[in-house]
Amino acid sequence: MKLKFLKSLLPLVILFTKVNLTAQEKINDKTEPKIQAIIKQLTLEEKIALLHANSIFGTAGVTRLNIPGLMTDDGPLGVREDVKEGWGSANLTTDSATFFPNGSALAATWNPELSYRYGHDLGEEARARKKYIILAPAFNISRTPLCGRTYEYLSEDPFLNARLAVQSVKGIQSQHIAACVKHFALNNQEIERGRVSVEVDERTMREIYLPAFKASITEGNAWTIMSAYNKIRGVYCSENDYLLNKILKGEWGFKGIVISDWGGTHSTVNAANNGLDVEMGSQPPYENYYFANPLLKAVNEGKVSIKTIDEKVHRILWVMYHTSMSENPPAGKMNTEEHSKTVYDIATESIVLLKNEQQLLPLNISTVKSIAVIGDNATRTFHLGGFGAGVKAKYEITALAGLQNRLGKSIDIKFAQGYSGVYKRAGKTEMYEGEKADSNMINQAVALAKTTDIAILFIGGNREYESESRDRKDLSLPFGEQALVDAVTAANPKTIVVVVGGAPYDIGQIKKQNSTIVWSWYNGSENGNALADVLTGKINPSGKFPFTFPVAINQSPAHAFNAYPGDSVVTYKEGLLVGYRWYDTKKIAPLYPFGYGLSYTSFTYSALQTGKKNYKPGETITATIKITNTGNYAGKETVQLYISKPGSQVARADKELKAFKKLMINKGSTVEVKLEIPVQDLAYYDTKNSKWVVEPGQYKLLAGTSSGDIKETGTITIE
Ligand code: BGC
Repeated sequence: MKLKFLKSLLPLVILFTKVNLTAQEKINDKTEPKIQAIIKQLTLEEKIALLHANSIFGTAGVTRLNIPGLMTDDGPLGVREDVKEGWGSANLTTDSATFFPNGSALAATWNPELSYRYGHDLGEEARARKKYIILAPAFNISRTPLCGRTYEYLSEDPFLNARLAVQSVKGIQSQHIAACVKHFALNNQEIERGRVSVEVDERTMREIYLPAFKASITEGNAWTIMSAYNKIRGVYCSENDYLLNKILKGEWGFKGIVISDWGGTHSTVNAANNGLDVEMGSQPPYENYYFANPLLKAVNEGKVSIKTIDEKVHRILWVMYHTSMSENPPAGKMNTEEHSKTVYDIATESIVLLKNEQQLLPLNISTVKSIAVIGDNATRTFHLGGFGAGVKAKYEITALAGLQNRLGKSIDIKFAQGYSGVYKRAGKTEMYEGEKADSNMINQAVALAKTTDIAILFIGGNREYESESRDRKDLSLPFGEQALVDAVTAANPKTIVVVVGGAPYDIGQIKKQNSTIVWSWYNGSENGNALADVLTGKINPSGKFPFTFPVAINQSPAHAFNAYPGDSVVTYKEGLLVGYRWYDTKKIAPLYPFGYGLSYTSFTYSALQTGKKNYKPGETITATIKITNTGNYAGKETVQLYISKPGSQVARADKELKAFKKLMINKGSTVEVKLEIPVQDLAYYDTKNSKWVVEPGQYKLLAGTSSGDIKETGTITIE
C-alpha cells in the first residue's frame, strides 16, 4: 500500500526535480484542451493536409473547422514579395517591404538590442503581410569564408551567434509571428548541399555548430525550425532521428514544428517517424509529396502511427495558437519610419573601419570640394540578386545617392562606374568567378579621380556574386577590381576604398597599399545614408568583424585540412578549431582577426578585476574593466571577454569568447564595464558521459578589442 502511494508520487517528484526548465517546458498552456478537441474532430485526410505544402509557401488548412493554413515566407533580408507557382513575381503592388541589412552586417554590430529590433520590425512586417512563419533568422556557422550564404549567416563564433539569434527570435515572436530558425544543422557550404554528408565529432557539433540553435529554442523559445538540406553522418537532416527526435525534441524540449527546407524531404516513413513535421517544397503536384498521399498510405499500412500524426498536428496547432490564431494579436505594420530607423541604426553600427592612416576620415567637409565616386557598387542595389531570398524593397538608397543626399549641396560629386559588376558562371563547377577588368572603364575612372580632391572607390561583391546554392571559387576580388583600385589610387593618393560584401575577401594588397579602408555590407534600405553618415563622422564607426579574414584561403582551417568541399562526404577535420579558435591556437596571423574594427577615436583598457577569485559551479563570474576614450570623438566600443584554460584535460582552443558588451563612451571619459560569465558557460561537452562538464582549476580571462588584440588579463579559479 505504502509502496503504491510512493510510486504514485514518483511522476511529481520527477517533475519537481527537473531544474532548468527550457522556455518551452515552462509554458503554461491554456490552449491544450482546445488543441485536443480539434485533433478529435479531424479526419485522417484533414490531418495529412496540414502536414505538407499546397503552394510554394503555404499549407492547406481545414475550412470546416476554421483552421487556417500555415503561411510562411522568407527572410532573412525582409519579408519576400509574393510569388506565383514557378517563383515568378505575383506582381502585386502591396508587397514592397523594408530591406534589412544582411546577417553578417547585423553580427558586425555586436549589438543584441539591434538584433531584437531587427526581429521585432521584421515580425511586424510579416504580420502586416499575414505571413505567420518567417523563415529567419539564418545562422549556420561560417566554417569556410567561401560559403555562398556567409552573407545571410551571422558569425564563425557560437557565442556571438547565439546571443544575436536569441534576440532576433524574441523580436520576431513578440509580434505573434513564428521565427523559423535555419538551417538545422551543419549546412555550412552550398556546394552539394542536397547530397553531402557531414562527418563531425560529437564535441565539435555540440560546442560549435549547435549552441545558437539550442539557445534559440531553450532561451529564445523559437516556435519553428527548418531542417537543413544536407546529411549528418549519412542521414538526411529531415529524417535524422538523432538530430530531430533525440536532441531537438528530447533534450531541448522543443514543442514546435520541424519544417523541411524546400524540397529537402527524401522519404515518407523515415521522415515521419524520425521527427519531421511539415514537408515544404515548390514543385507541384503537391498531392504526391512524401507527406501527402504516400503518408496517408503509410498510416493505413501501419508504418506510421496515428499517434505520430496526431503529435505533428498538435505541434502545428500549438504554433497556430501562438501566431495566426493567437489572442490579442498586434496589428502589423509595413515600411514605417521606425523600421527605416532600425535599418539605419544596424547599418551605421555594422560598418567597419579598417584603416585610416592619413586621417582622411571623417571627411573634412570644409576642405573637400569635389569627390570622385567610383565603382559599380556605388550605384548598385542589393535587395534582390542571386539565387536566394531577397526583398522587393520599398526603397534602397545606394551609396552614391546617400553621398548626394548628405553632401550634394556643398560638394561636387561625380561618378564613374569603374567596373561592370556582372559575372558569369565559370566552367562546369557550381562555383562562380568574376569577369576581368575593363580597361576603358578604368581609364575613365582614373581620368575622373585626377580632377577631384578625393576619390571614394566602391568595390567588393554583390548579390549575384555571393549567393545561395553556390560557393565562391576563391577569395579574390571579382570583376577586375584590384586593377581598378591600383589605377585609381595611383591617380589620386587621397583614395578611400569602401569594400562592400557579406563575407571575407582577399583585400591583402589593399591593406598593404591603401591608407584608408572601410568595410560595408548589403546594408538594407538605408544603406547609402548610413554609409554617408559614417564617412562624414556624423556616426563614429563601431562595427567589428564577426569572422576572421584569412591572408589566403589555405590558412582557413577547413581548407588547411583540405576538408572542403568533400565529395559525397565532408569531414570536419579541424574539429573545434573553427575561425579564430584555429588561428589563435596555431599562432597564425590572419589578415584581420575576429572582432576587429577601428573607430575615429581611440580607447584604452585598464583595471580588469573579478568579483572574487574563486567560483563554484552554478555561480556567475563577474569581471569589470575600465575603458577610457582617449581620442577626439565620442564613440562606441565593444569589449570582448574570452576565456582560456591552461593545462586543460581536454583539447581546447587557445581562447573562446564568453561575454561582450558594446557601449558609448564620451571623449575623455572613462566607463567601467561589467561583464558576466555563468560558470556553466565554461563547460566542455563530455562525449563519454553525454553531458556538459566544467573542469575545476584556473582559467584566464582575456579582455580585448578583438581576438587578436587582448588588452587586459586576469585569473579565476573554479572549485
Ligand atoms: C532555402 C531556405 C529558404 C527556402 C524557401 C531554400 O532554398 O535554403 O533558406 O527559406 O528555400 O525560399
